[in-house]
Amino acid sequence: MQDKIREYAKRLKLSWIRENYHTVDVKNPQEYLLHLFEKEIEQREERKINLLLKAATLPNVSGKPFDWKDIQLGQGLTQEYLLNGDFIDKKENMIFYGGVGAGKTYLSTLIGMNAIHRYGKQVKFYTIASLANALLEANEKGTLIKLFKKIEKLDLLILDELGYIPLHKQGAELLFQVISLCYEKRSIIITTNLQFGQWNHVFGDPILTEATVDRLIHHSHLVLFGGDSNRMKESLALRSM
Ligand SMILES: Nc1ncnc2c1ncn2[C@@H]1O[C@H](COP(=O)(O)OP(=O)(O)OP(=O)(O)O)[C@@H](O)[C@H]1O
Ligand SMILES: [Mg+2]
Repeated sequence: MQDKIREYAKRLKLSWIRENYHTVDVKNPQEYLLHLFEKEIEQREERKINLLLKAATLPNVSGKPFDWKDIQLGQGLTQEYLLNGDFIDKKENMIFYGGVGAGKTYLSTLIGMNAIHRYGKQVKFYTIASLANALLEANEKGTLIKLFKKIEKLDLLILDELGYIPLHKQGAELLFQVISLCYEKRSIIITTNLQFGQWNHVFGDPILTEATVDRLIHHSHLVLFGGDSNRMKESLALRSM
């Protein structure tokens, strides 16, 4: 009988029940069955979260609480709105601007982790350089469409470190395609140490830069990390007039 139970549980893909059914106390049959189902569901959820976390390739974080003291949230933005990932459902973008070590990567990682743990969202973290490389490589291998499809399925795309490394022409063009693909359909968090006026140094072409910035800042919020970020705020205000 035990073999049969294990075999049926396997065929029904009930792996928790298959391994653990005999360890659960049987007080009455209904309670027993309920307990088995609950545990099975719990294990499935856990497995799904682990897969999502693995696929997201988020950086490791220290786990210390996030300090909001030097963070300036744009109008209508709250800590909860960011951490609960409400902007993801609304397909809004977040632009995190600030200097070295100001917490941009840390906060985007926390948001990504919350989105996975609380809501089972599909998240992917790339540095701008790593995404550009992945795109160039896929282009060479003829798997670009596949990569685009993967990106299109995401709920949240985190693009870290725009500004530290200039892109090659083709990398910049492919990155623009990704941002266009996500436009009004997916959420992007982009972190940068550069004001919009300087993004040209990364994209290398003023028209491409303009088109990229336009798509990103439409339906976006600006979050300023650290003290001297007022120029960025003014620049966004000018653009949205
Ligand atoms: N606001 C903060 N609250 C708590 N810890 C912080 C905060 N800002 C920075 N840290 C700590 O400093 C480390 C570096 O921060 P982080 O990597 O997020 O900086 P960054 O803004 O991404 O800098 P860079 O532009 O150099 O990539 C974090 O791992 C974290 O431990
Ligand atoms: Mg960083």
